[in-house]
Amino acid sequence: MSFKIGNIEFGEQPLLLAPMEDITDKSFRYICKQYGADMLYTEFVPSEALVRNVKKSFSKLEIEEKERPVGIQIYGHNIDVMVEAARIAEEYKPDLIDINFGCPVKKIANRGAGSGMLRDLPKMYEMTRKIVNAVKIPVTVKTRLGWDSEIIVIEEVAKELQQIGIKALTIHGRTKAQLYKGTSDWTLIGKIANDPEIKIPIIGNGDIKTPENAKQHFEKYGVSGIMIGRAAIGKPWVFRQIKHYLKTGEILPEPGLSEKIKISRLHLKKSLEIKGGIRGIYEMRRHFALYFKGLPNFKEIRLRLLTSTEPEEISDILSLIEKTYK
Ligand SMILES: Cc1cc2nc3c(=O)[nH]c(=O)nc-3n(C[C@H](O)[C@H](O)[C@H](O)COP(=O)(O)O)c2cc1C
Repeated sequence: MSFKIGNIEFGEQPLLLAPMEDITDKSFRYICKQYGADMLYTEFVPSEALVRNVKKSFSKLEIEEKERPVGIQIYGHNIDVMVEAARIAEEYKPDLIDINFGCPVKKIANRGAGSGMLRDLPKMYEMTRKIVNAVKIPVTVKTRLGWDSEIIVIEEVAKELQQIGIKALTIHGRTKAQLYKGTSDWTLIGKIANDPEIKIPIIGNGDIKTPENAKQHFEKYGVSGIMIGRAAIGKPWVFRQIKHYLKTGEILPEPGLSEKIKISRLHLKKSLEIKGGIRGIYEMRRHFALYFKGLPNFKEIRLRLLTSTEPEEISDILSLIEKTYK
């Protein structure tokens, strides 16, 4: 079923790119959009840094028209600071503000931000209410099942946050204590998605890697959308593969080498435009390493690709890869 988040219209079974620190910058988002991601999110942005005017964090707020729909995600533990950060983020004209109540990283969660909020629900609710009231665009939340197996609070959280006025909820089927271990448990996600009291879209997240398991999870758990994180790293074409499978039941093969070269060039171009010279190149290295993973006898060329600091040289190396492995 199609649905809306605020004024953003989604078709059947949309796929959302998960916010990922150091990954979902503007250039990676651009590539995922090319491959059909229906909604994009920035990396999480620390509210304290926005309020303290830290320049690096402001660049994370920048989005382009072509990306829409796109959400800016913020996190923090101080309610006033988060409200101010949401107002600042709104000035960058995202389609929505997403609040991160799921990050399990110790230095964030132990200070009460991210998934730390799952241990202090009154504060979570007050923060969300104030942010909803402070901005005109839709506010959404991304969180986990609970703090640990003793504190599974997501059903209560979903209802309360809906009441407060969030426009969608993304649930990663792990607790904070699980970090990224084990497998994402979708049972509760499905229960909430099918609860008649829940009217807002529920986006399921965790461990969706293949077209088959995306389809199976849509069908079994009845979520409005699926959010994909790690499976897109190094494989942004996963969106195209899943969409094609959902539509036709047919598995598209992995892109061939020439498509990977084309994507590498485009990704590099975007990264250079956005981050400039050397930083744009540094950011690309992890992607290059994954795009060409598994090529036989690749060690030497790989080393050159991952150490070059010159765009022209990288372009020549990409041509060499194409020639060598075609
Ligand atoms: C490198 C990395 C960075 C992440 N950064 C964020 C983030 O900034 N905000 C957020 O809400 N979740 C973040 N996550 C969690 C993902 O959005 C997602 O919830 C999680 O990876 C589970 O989905 P997956 O199995 O599809 O990867 C991050 C995950 C990874 C692997």
